[in-house]
Amino acid sequence: MQVLKAPAEVQAWARQQAREGKRIGLVPTMGYLHEGHLSLLRKARSLCDSLVMTLFVNPSQFGPGEDLDRYPRDEDGDLSKAMACGVDLVFMPAAADMYPKGFQTKVSLGALTEPMCGASRPGHFDGVATVVSKLFLITRPDLAVFGQKDFQQLAVIRRLVSDLNFGIEIIAGPIVREEDGVAMSSRNVYLSPDARKQARCLVRGLRAAEQRLAEGTRDASTLLAAARAVIGAAPLAKLDYLELRDAETLESVRTVSKPAVLAVAAKFGHTRLIDNLVLQA
Ligand code: PAF
Repeated sequence: MQVLKAPAEVQAWARQQAREGKRIGLVPTMGYLHEGHLSLLRKARSLCDSLVMTLFVNPSQFGPGEDLDRYPRDEDGDLSKAMACGVDLVFMPAAADMYPKGFQTKVSLGALTEPMCGASRPGHFDGVATVVSKLFLITRPDLAVFGQKDFQQLAVIRRLVSDLNFGIEIIAGPIVREEDGVAMSSRNVYLSPDARKQARCLVRGLRAAEQRLAEGTRDASTLLAAARAVIGAAPLAKLDYLELRDAETLESVRTVSKPAVLAVAAKFGHTRLIDNLVLQA
C-alpha cells in the first residue's frame, strides 16, 4: 500500500492506473476508521482494480465552534485498517496542500443543501462539495463509495456529480450499527457513558415511526410524532431536527407515498449525532 501526500503525485498515479486499463475506486474519509468505513472500503474493493482511500480532516466543512480541533485522529490505526481492507493508495494531504495560500474557489449547491444539516451547519455542504470535487479531480476515480448515514451528503454528492459531469459512479454503503442499534460514527467516542446509552433513542425513535408505517400510518406528522415521543424521553438528547423528506429530492413530504427518508440530528452535550432510516411506501 502506498501513502502519498502530494496531489500531483496522486494524479500521476491515477493517470498510470488509467493507462493500464485499471478501474479506480475511491472511498473518501476523515479517518478514525470504524466498521462503517471498513464496510465502504470492502464494497469499493470488490468493484474496482485500484482502491484509493483519502484521509483528510477537511477544515472547510467545519463551522466556527465545531469540533475541527478535537476531531479524533488515529493515523497509524487507520493505515493498518486500510491495508487490511486491500487499499492500494492512501492519499493523506496536509491542509496546506489542499488549500494553498490564495485558494479562493468554492463549489456551492442550491436547495438540496438548505434544510436539515445545511440549516444547522451553514457552509458545511460548500466545504464538503469543494473538497469532494478536489478529491475527485486528484484521484480520478471511476466509482466512489459514500456512507448512507450522511444521507444528505450522499444526495448532495450525487447532484454534484451529475451537475458537473464528473462521470463517476456513486455507490451508497448502508449504515453500520453497533449491537444496540446506534449508528457507527467517529464522534461516538466523545459521548459520556450516560449519553452513549441514551443515544439509542435516535434509532429507536426512527424504528418506532417505521413500525407505525408498517401498521398503516402514512401521515408524516403522525410518524414524526411517534419518533419524537421516543427521542423526547431521553433527557440528554437535544433535538436539532427530525424530518421526513422525499428520499431523492429531500423535499418535505406530508404523506409517505414513495421512498422517504426519516432523518434526525440531536446533540448529546457537545456531540452532535445524525441517523436516518429510509421508509418504503
Ligand atoms: O463523510 C465524510 O467523512 C466527509 O464529509 C468527506 C466525504 C470525507 C469529505 O470530507
